[in-house]
Amino acid sequence: MTADATSRPMPAERHVTGAAIVLDGVAKRFRGQEKPAVEHLDLEIEAGQIVAFVGPSGCGKTTTLKMINRLIEPTEGRIFIGGRDVTKEDPDKLRQSIGYVIQSGGLFPHWSVAKNVGAIPRVLGWDKKRIAERTDYLLDLVGLDPAVFADRLPKDMSGGQQQRVGVARALAADPPVLLMDEPFGAVDPITRVRLQDSLIAIQHELGKTIVIVTHDFEEATKLGDKVLILSEGGHVEQYATPEEVLTDPATPFVEEFVGSGAKLAYLTVSRVRDVEYDAVCTARIGEPSAQVIARAKAAGHSWIVVVDAAGRPRSWPSLTEVATKPEVSDFLDRRLPVVARSSTLNDAFDEMLATSQGATLVTDGRGAVVGSLSIGSVTELIRNKLAEGHPEEDPSYETYVDGTDPAPTPVVAADEPGVPPAADGLDDARASAGQS
Ligand SMILES: Nc1ncnc2c1ncn2[C@@H]1O[C@H](COP(=O)(O)OP(=O)(O)OP(=O)(O)O)[C@@H](O)[C@H]1O
Ligand SMILES: [Mg+2]
Repeated sequence: MTADATSRPMPAERHVTGAAIVLDGVAKRFRGQEKPAVEHLDLEIEAGQIVAFVGPSGCGKTTTLKMINRLIEPTEGRIFIGGRDVTKEDPDKLRQSIGYVIQSGGLFPHWSVAKNVGAIPRVLGWDKKRIAERTDYLLDLVGLDPAVFADRLPKDMSGGQQQRVGVARALAADPPVLLMDEPFGAVDPITRVRLQDSLIAIQHELGKTIVIVTHDFEEATKLGDKVLILSEGGHVEQYATPEEVLTDPATPFVEEFVGSGAKLAYLTVSRVRDVEYDAVCTARIGEPSAQVIARAKAAGHSWIVVVDAAGRPRSWPSLTEVATKPEVSDFLDRRLPVVARSSTLNDAFDEMLATSQGATLVTDGRGAVVGSLSIGSVTELIRNKLAEGHPEEDPSYETYVDGTDPAPTPVVAADEPGVPPAADGLDDARASAGQS
C-alpha cells in the first residue's frame, strides 16, 4: 500500500510569489584588501527557487549575499530583483522588501516574539490588527503555537525555536526574496533537520525565492533547487542542480569538495516522498477502541497512529495495546521517529537510528502524519538504485591499478553491488519498532 497520490507535492503546480535575482558583473573590493572578495560574478536565480551558496571559508558567500540587499555596496556591476535595478534604489526601502535571516536568529532580546515578528510591518505602518493576524499566521507557518509563544522573550526559547521566529520575522512583510546566512549553523543536528524540512515546506507553500548560505554541502544539496559552488574570490566552480553536481562535477575543485561521500550521496538527494511509503491507520484520542481495532484490522494493520486534532502523531500503539483500554488514550511517545516528506532518505535513516526504531512515521509540511517508512523499503531502494547504477563508474576488478589487464575474473558479481541486503521486511521493522 502506498500513500495516496494527492499527498505528493507536484512541483509543476508550485505557485511562485518570489522574484528572479540577477547579478550582472558584480564585484566587491574591500578597502585595504589586496585581493577582491568577489572578483566578477554573473548569476541568475529563477523566481521561486531555492539556491544554496556553498564553498570554503572566505570565498565570498556572505559578501555576495549582503550585496543583494545592499548591506554591502558592490564596487562594480548591477543587481536586478524582479527586473528592477536595485543598485539604484534607496537601501533602507530595499531591505524592507527583502527577508534576511542570520545565524542564531538575530532577534531583539528585549522584545517579545510577536514584537520581533511585527518589526518591519510596524515600520511600514501596518495597523495593529493586520500585524497581529500576520504574526499569528507566520508563527503557525513556522510551527510555533502563537498562543504559547507570542509573548515569550527570545531568551526563554530554544535555539531552534528562536531560529523559527527569525524565519517568521523575515517573512513578515511578505517579501519576494528571502536571504539566509547559515541560518541553521548553531542548532543541533536533529533540530537542524526539522528546520530544513520546515523551510522546504514553507517554500512549497509560499513560492518565495530563497538564497541560503551554508558551509554544509549536504545541507546545500538537500535545500537547493540549485547549488552554487564558489571558490576564493567568488569564483563560480559550478552552478547546477544537486544531482548534476553529484553525478557530473564540473571541476577538480568541485570533485574534491563533494568528496568521497558522493558514492552514497543520492541518499541525500533522494527524498522520502520519492519512496513508496506505507499507509497508516490513524485514530483520535477518545475514540472507542473496539471501533478503531475493527477499522485497523479491515485495512490489514496490526498497529495504529494516535493523532491530535491537527493530525500530528502522538504514539503508535499495537492493536494489542489499544485493546487494553476501552478508549484510545493520550500518550506522547518521546521516542516516536518522525520525518517530513521533504526529508532526505539520509535524514530518515538518522531518525530511525536515533530512536532505535526500524521504521519512521512520515508527516506533511505541517506535521500531520501521512504514512510510514520502513528501513527495509529504504535499503531496497538503495539496492535498486545501485543496480541501475553507472557501470562505467563502478570499480572494475578487471583492471589493476598497475595497469595490467588480467583475464576477466569470474567471481565479480555485477548484480550484487556491495550493499547489504535489506535487514528486515516491513513486519520485522514494525516488530523492532515495538509494535508486536
Ligand atoms: N568588511 C570587510 N573588510 C575587509 N575584508 C572583508 C570584509 N568582509 C569580508 N572581507 C573579506 O572578504 C573575503 C570574503 O568574505 P566573506 O565573509 O564573504 O566569506 P564567506 O564565504 O562568507 O566565509 P565564511 O564561510 O567564513 O562565512 C574574505 O577574505 C574576508 O576576509
Ligand atoms: Mg560567511
